[in-house]
Amino acid sequence: MPLVNMKPLLRHAMDNGYAVAAFNLVDYGTTKAMVKAAEELNAPVICQTSAKTIQYFSHREIVSWVRTVAEESPVPVVLHLDHCKDLAMIEECARSGWTSIMIDASEYPFEENLAMSLRVRDIADRYGVGMEAELGQIMGVEDDMVVDEADSVLTDPDDARRFCDALDLSAFACAVGTAHGFYKGEPVVDFDRIEAINRATGTPMALHGGTGLSDETFAKAIARGAAKVNISTNLKHVFVESVEDYRRKNPDDYEPLRVIDAQYQACKALFAGFIEKFGGRDTAPAFLASLRETA
Ligand code: 13P
Repeated sequence: MPLVNMKPLLRHAMDNGYAVAAFNLVDYGTTKAMVKAAEELNAPVICQTSAKTIQYFSHREIVSWVRTVAEESPVPVVLHLDHCKDLAMIEECARSGWTSIMIDASEYPFEENLAMSLRVRDIADRYGVGMEAELGQIMGVEDDMVVDEADSVLTDPDDARRFCDALDLSAFACAVGTAHGFYKGEPVVDFDRIEAINRATGTPMALHGGTGLSDETFAKAIARGAAKVNISTNLKHVFVESVEDYRRKNPDDYEPLRVIDAQYQACKALFAGFIEKFGGRDTAPAFLASLRETA
């Protein structure tokens, strides 16, 4: 089916107590693996792209991969732009086929962040796509941008209300104690804050830094309003390690299709595990029915 807008999807997820898994695609194989995993579970999925992946390939290539696999699939697929600060790139994504865009101006003071995010609101409205924006600073490394623990700022629920009221977001990214990358110690996730932010904003929350969180943490965050969970680092590791593992077990095999198939299967299993964990199984039909009702 054609790519879907993120806004009604995350609203459906939040209202029905599940979260949609959002994976940072690497190439065509990982894109296909995430959609096929979603298909096996009859679940929606978000294929998202970092700015650096778009720079490496191109808007055209990425849109063609995601459309190719999504259009042949019966499950809803979103193509979303993850953390981006570049308004020209954001607009080019909306223009060329992304169905959701993210502005990350979280390093700026509140008013500047809001002003920049409002410019992206205009872009999203012009192209009819979903939108994510961030307030507070999430720790760790994302797309070569580093936020140290000392610089991370947890999101204040009252600020979150003002921000979300002005922006009408599909997903609200905020800092609640999670971090991008592998955790060094036990992460301290502020569940009360997640609940307070969700109560204040009524907006589906995007939980960043999904790699390394426990099943219990996912369940508690989703029960409190996390409707999108981002996974990137875990995929990077499986992407590389699955090839190393195949080579270790088959040192004389130089048939590339068997090598990339081993990688594909490992990535698909990873995706399916997260989709299941976030409660996505069999949620696609009800979401698609809700879309038909509002059409
Ligand atoms: P991880 O790299 O920790 O999985 O976080 C991904 C993320 O939040 C992307 O925005």
